[in-house]
Amino acid sequence: MASIKMLGISASPRENVNSQFLLEVAVEAAIAVAPQGISRELFSFAGKEISACDSCDQCAELGYCWVEDDFQELRDKWIWADAIIYSVPVYHMGVPAQLKAFIDRLGHSVQESFNDRALKVMGVITQGSGFASGQESVMLYLNSHAVMLGCIPMGGLWPVGYIGVGARVGYSGTMREAYEEGDEHTVEAVDATKELSKQIILVTTILKSGGEQNREMLKKSGGFEFFLKRLDS
Ligand SMILES: Cc1cc2nc3c(=O)[nH]c(=O)nc-3n(C[C@H](O)[C@H](O)[C@H](O)COP(=O)(O)O)c2cc1C
Repeated sequence: MASIKMLGISASPRENVNSQFLLEVAVEAAIAVAPQGISRELFSFAGKEISACDSCDQCAELGYCWVEDDFQELRDKWIWADAIIYSVPVYHMGVPAQLKAFIDRLGHSVQESFNDRALKVMGVITQGSGFASGQESVMLYLNSHAVMLGCIPMGGLWPVGYIGVGARVGYSGTMREAYEEGDEHTVEAVDATKELSKQIILVTTILKSGGEQNREMLKKSGGFEFFLKRLDS
């Protein structure tokens, strides 16, 4: 069974703070659950320059975006991956401009090759300083991005899963510190992140090597009863 190629993206311009922390949790959880192993790539927006699309439309002729900056590094990793986890801080009720710039350029310049189904499995972890302060907008936006590029957006499991992980920092320090101190909300966000990551790996496994072949693993993991019943009917 081929290993799953997983890309983890931290969309914060800050190094090693909350987005990075939850991304690390997600990657560790993915490694723990992948029966066939994980090859992983990580990308952090910290210290990277990705300029906005200026609508020159040269990609329509060239088939790629000719503007050279850190875009190419992330694009190549994105194309390589079977499964992608975005860990994103909420900025002004939405995604940080750097991530938006990447997605605009990716969607515009690789669209031709993604007219077929890319079928990457994608999940969104997002966190912000407040309650209902943009987390859902970030998840909806990135889930739409997944659908637009022929990918499969994944949520976790009820009650914290829904359409991704939407956490609130709500603590004077970092989420890592809050977690170490046992802060209830942060512990819940970490559990939700692990669950989302697990679901991403299981669905990627089904896509890569079939439900039938992985019947026992899916039975054990729970959450696939409807699917397993359908396999039998
Ligand atoms: C420019 C800017 C805009 C922000 N806007 C929001 C917002 O709309 N909602 C929110 O909950 N938090 C907002 N925040 C707070 C960040 O989401 C929060 O500090 C987050 O933990 C940062 O993630 P990081 O540690 O990965 O950088 C904003 C922060 C910045 C710098």
